[in-house]
Amino acid sequence: MRPDKDDRIRTSWDDNAGRWTEAVRAGSIRSRGAGTDTAVVEAVARLRPGSVLDVGCGEGWLARRLAQDLGCRVVGVDGSAELVRLARDADPTGDYRRIDYGAIAADPALLGGPFDAVVANFALLSEEMSGLLRALLRAAPGGALVIQTVHPWVACGDGPYKDGWREETFAAFGAEGWSRMPWFYRTLASWHEELTAAGWRVDAVREPADPESGRPLSLLLTCTSRPAA
Ligand SMILES: C[S@@+](CC[C@H](N)C(=O)[O-])C[C@H]1O[C@@H](n2cnc3c(N)ncnc32)[C@H](O)[C@@H]1O
Repeated sequence: MRPDKDDRIRTSWDDNAGRWTEAVRAGSIRSRGAGTDTAVVEAVARLRPGSVLDVGCGEGWLARRLAQDLGCRVVGVDGSAELVRLARDADPTGDYRRIDYGAIAADPALLGGPFDAVVANFALLSEEMSGLLRALLRAAPGGALVIQTVHPWVACGDGPYKDGWREETFAAFGAEGWSRMPWFYRTLASWHEELTAAGWRVDAVREPADPESGRPLSLLLTCTSRPAA
């Protein structure tokens, strides 16, 4: 565990909240329009959930979309006070709460479950996630977990295909004015090991593809709770 890195992840989202919200809402993140938004909504819709927890909901686009398209109850949680404020502003009747993953790991009851499904869209960024994953299992007993994240073979770039901390400069957004963010790169095997060790079983692996290049836009994992042996 690297508390310094976790603190920097958290503060970067507070610093970047306004710019990030503008980028998401203006549709200027190309990969999202090219397929990752649709892919995560479809993955959750397949589960036909009556209730969904959106972990690391950010400014809340996915919570709003799921509530509208699926008619389900959605709770969005995020550690950034500013992003939670922006989510509430956009959806005053929605349920958005400022809760840090560390607090969820310590007390899953804070989430007010049970939920049929949990979704984390590009929101698991730290090395330490076992406590959170175990807590989510308790928040969605018998339910499902959908994780969308960067595709390890694409995000690897020229670096080694090995777990480790990397730094997001937000160069794709022009970098200027953005606060850099450390994030923990994981291989495919590492994702599988983390999830399995926490009690989740990976049921489906999807790789939404860029219609132009044919390359994967993301890695999308659907998991269910693993029955005790
Ligand atoms: C890349 S954004 C994704 C936001 C949203 N899921 C979306 O699809 O637009 C990552 C989000 O994870 C949240 N996050 C990261 N680490 C967190 C932590 N330790 N506790 C709570 N939220 C965290 C950030 O505040 C940020 O809103």
